[in-house]
Amino acid sequence: MSLVPPSAAARARSRVQSPQEYETLLARSLDDPDGFWRDQASALTWFHAPANIVEDDGHGEVTWFSGGRLNASVNAVDRHARTHPDRAAIIGAAPDGTLTTWTFAELKARVGRIANALVHRGVRRGDRVVVYMPTTPQAAAVMLACSRIGAVHVVVNPAYSAETLRERIEDVGAELIVTADAAPWDRQVLPLKRRVDQAVAGLSQVRCVLVDRHQAVPVSMTAGRDHWLQTELQRHRVACPAVWQPAEAPLFIMHTSGSTGAARGMVHTTAGYLVWACTTFRYLFDLRPGDVHLCTADLGWITGHTYALYGPLTAGITTVLVEGHPGRPDRGRLGALIDAVQATTLYTAPAVLRCMRAAGDAVLARSLRTSLRVLGSVGERLEPDLWQWLHQEVGGGRCPIVDTWWQTETGGAMLANLPGALPARPGYVGRPMFGVRPVLLDRDGRRIEGEGSGVLAIAGTWPGQARTLYGDHAAYLATYHPHPGLFVTGDGAHRDAEGYFAITGRVDDVLTVGGHRLGPAELEDTLCAHDAVLEAAVVATALPDGGEQITVFIVPAPWATTPADDLRAALVEQLRLAIGPIATPGRVWFVSGLPRTRTGKLLRRVLRHLCDGGTRPSDDDLADIADPSVVDEILEVIQPDRLRQRAD
Ligand code: PRX
Repeated sequence: MSLVPPSAAARARSRVQSPQEYETLLARSLDDPDGFWRDQASALTWFHAPANIVEDDGHGEVTWFSGGRLNASVNAVDRHARTHPDRAAIIGAAPDGTLTTWTFAELKARVGRIANALVHRGVRRGDRVVVYMPTTPQAAAVMLACSRIGAVHVVVNPAYSAETLRERIEDVGAELIVTADAAPWDRQVLPLKRRVDQAVAGLSQVRCVLVDRHQAVPVSMTAGRDHWLQTELQRHRVACPAVWQPAEAPLFIMHTSGSTGAARGMVHTTAGYLVWACTTFRYLFDLRPGDVHLCTADLGWITGHTYALYGPLTAGITTVLVEGHPGRPDRGRLGALIDAVQATTLYTAPAVLRCMRAAGDAVLARSLRTSLRVLGSVGERLEPDLWQWLHQEVGGGRCPIVDTWWQTETGGAMLANLPGALPARPGYVGRPMFGVRPVLLDRDGRRIEGEGSGVLAIAGTWPGQARTLYGDHAAYLATYHPHPGLFVTGDGAHRDAEGYFAITGRVDDVLTVGGHRLGPAELEDTLCAHDAVLEAAVVATALPDGGEQITVFIVPAPWATTPADDLRAALVEQLRLAIGPIATPGRVWFVSGLPRTRTGKLLRRVLRHLCDGGTRPSDDDLADIADPSVVDEILEVIQPDRLRQRAD
């Protein structure tokens, strides 16, 4: 695919204006990390400037900006409230089209009141606070209030079920939860408070639940434990002193899925994360004061943390928070919102774009979108035809596209084509961000030089790197640092002759569906909990529009008597209840056996290969499988889908 150069207008506004300038800055960031990151860190407000920039033992023990002290909410709010009190900090976009704007001064007051309320309810430095709320200005203020007093926020996406919520509350030992009565979502109302009640039933660690009255729906309140957030706020003053945190103090924990076991809590630090969020945000979107940044991610994902909250606010830019699904209730919602807030940058996911494209030209034509200047994407592959559609139809051919690759673990974007600086290559995420040394490894862990494909790893460290898994540092080291000096990502990638990277998908079994990451083992355990299920396997498989869906294989128990259609419906419901609607499978197939090695390891890659239209593996390849006849049965069962795929 050929290169698409940035327009003259994009180049003129850009922070980095030419490939040469990009190469010079990249070289400096790699050759002189101390100097480069000291400069970037000076964009933040510090109580104590850092004594050291980076210490890395090469085995996963790293510190950034040690000796420094700072506070995230002061950087995101106070300093802008002082210089630009009346600039819009947050615009909350409700699903019914209502916009709520809070200036930096208003946000500061709100954060202060909530912080005082948290302190009054016993929250202390280092305590974990679980936030289970829709993406609203109020939720953002709760997160910032935690950071103000040195508490660690643990945001759980409202699409997750009571069961998942409980696991996470227990994992981090939270004593206080902030939630809302309910949240609108895709024509439904999510009963958040009811789910909190279920999640904490019998859990004595939870002392207090603060409830935002958001939808004015009736909820039950447990005396002594539950309090309305609005009532709390009336009681407290706006002034709340900020705790000056050591650089490495945890700012938040965000759970993410691996290929085995339950989701794990990635711990991000105050200084490294904030410097990374601010630096990458400013370079990725070429922002200037007066810009309005619209990121469609829920605050319950890492993208919401970095590029809807901390990145924009730390840089003093107005951020738009989208509550609920960006394409519901009306598929023209996102276009209308871009016009209503005059968004200059849109950061979204291919799944949202596919949904917009499927709505048709007439829906898109209802909005002008002339305010847009840069278009960004994250979460899954932005395939070339979707890239072209985004460029031509959404951006009118004017806006550079920045496809960004990163992960919950990396804190912010690692590979991306800086708009204005570098020509883009559709289908490719581009070049490394400053300070990032991507390497490709072959099957034996040896480095591949030049053009080639392999497992993507990052050499050395960068400020936004998650430091550990909460409560399990050994698992962190084993998962991410199996080779000295390298962070292993779990993604496969291709590097072309010009050094552009394309992501080829996970090399492990982690599912990324609609830009959301799920662990197959979490889903399989839930399915196996059903009486009628003997074994289960879950994989992500390709959809004709370029996205992926969850595909489930079930081996029914010999004693099961439930008719297949009823069992299928029950299992879908079980997944939705246990994990949430994001775990809804696209296909559930019944088979009599699964492909396993002779030692019993489930070969999910074989299932994926067959579902994606792959040919029957050769007898040599089948030699790994204990009972190769299961492959023939699976091929027969999924035949209707394979025929349809060929017709498409
Ligand atoms: O497989 C990659 C995919 O999403 C995974 C990270 O998921 P998560 O931790 O939930 O964070 C999502 C938002 C940063 C990656 O391992 N991924 C992310 N961005 C891209 C991508 N795949 C292809 N292209 C991308 N731009």
